[in-house]
Amino acid sequence: MNDVADLRAKHLAAIAAAGDEAALEEVRLAAIGKKGEVALALRGLGAMSPEERQVAGPALNALRDEIVSALAAARAALSDAALSARLAAEWLDVSLPPRPAAQGTIHPVSQVMDEMAAIFADLGFAVAEGPQVEDDWHNFDALNIAPEHPARQEHDTFYMARAGGDNRPPHVLRTHTSPVQIRAMQAGGVPIRVIAPGRVYRADYDQTHTPMFHQLEGLAIDRDVTMANLKWVLEEFCRAMFEVDGVELKFRASHFPFTEPSAEVDIRCSWKDGQLRIGEGDDWLEILGSGMVHPKVLASAGVDPDVWQGFAFGLGVDRIAMLKYGIPDLRAFFDSDLRWLRHYGFAALDVPTLQAGISR
Ligand code: DAH
Repeated sequence: MNDVADLRAKHLAAIAAAGDEAALEEVRLAAIGKKGEVALALRGLGAMSPEERQVAGPALNALRDEIVSALAAARAALSDAALSARLAAEWLDVSLPPRPAAQGTIHPVSQVMDEMAAIFADLGFAVAEGPQVEDDWHNFDALNIAPEHPARQEHDTFYMARAGGDNRPPHVLRTHTSPVQIRAMQAGGVPIRVIAPGRVYRADYDQTHTPMFHQLEGLAIDRDVTMANLKWVLEEFCRAMFEVDGVELKFRASHFPFTEPSAEVDIRCSWKDGQLRIGEGDDWLEILGSGMVHPKVLASAGVDPDVWQGFAFGLGVDRIAMLKYGIPDLRAFFDSDLRWLRHYGFAALDVPTLQAGISR
């Protein structure tokens, strides 16, 4: 019976030593497979004497059963271990912060335009738009800028190329947002209260001028709109925009072809350590042009100047953004330098509202 004891010791040890499914299968074949040692021994029972068989038979059968259940137990243990290993390896810490996704930022010009739109919406102004490629009638003539008027030269206008024989009226890249005044009145009539933010173009390039820049036009026409309304609207606007209660504006007599009377508006400020402070100090900074809309402008938009009157103003959006956010060079606005955009840009969810703060 030593044989059976030897077989048992050998195969149970092999099962215990098997490190994976393949090794177990090898052990199974070697023990109880067709040509396995235990299977062969069982087959040898027939050649034994009845006495021998009586002893060896039950012992070998018991051994085979023992090996079968040892194999099953070892297999179960292996798959438990595999599962534990997977659980340990695939463990996920859901409390970790997510990896930051590369996020774009809102350009300061877009942010400032949104801020302006929010402020003027609160004052009852809708947003109007016009084409950037404008006919010279809307850009100049309708605004009382005659062909020989010096303003046509001063604006350093980009003219659209025309092939010889093309007799369509000349088109320009609009030099200001003022033509939107005409288009808005033509489209919607009066009374009207609109702002028109957008791109404008002039052939000019230095630290404070780029060939493309942004303006915001304002227009309010009704039966009895006066310069006092203009003053109040601009003061309210500056107070909200610069987030200073004590803003002080100075209206300086000026001239624009499309307004009469005309005023340029300066804001009280000071420069301290290279920092601009609005509303205090002894300096005045020009921020916009304005005036009462010229009767000829109303007439060219089909509005009766004997019944209707109102004000208009135009300001440089980029310049306001530079002032408000302390950005020194205008040209950097349009370089598309990602480091600049990350530094000066705004988070996409910081939407300006009067309640939550215009420039959080
Ligand atoms: N269009 C003028 C410019 O580009 C700005 C301006 C001045 C607009 C006075 C106005 C205004 O509406 O009343 O320089």
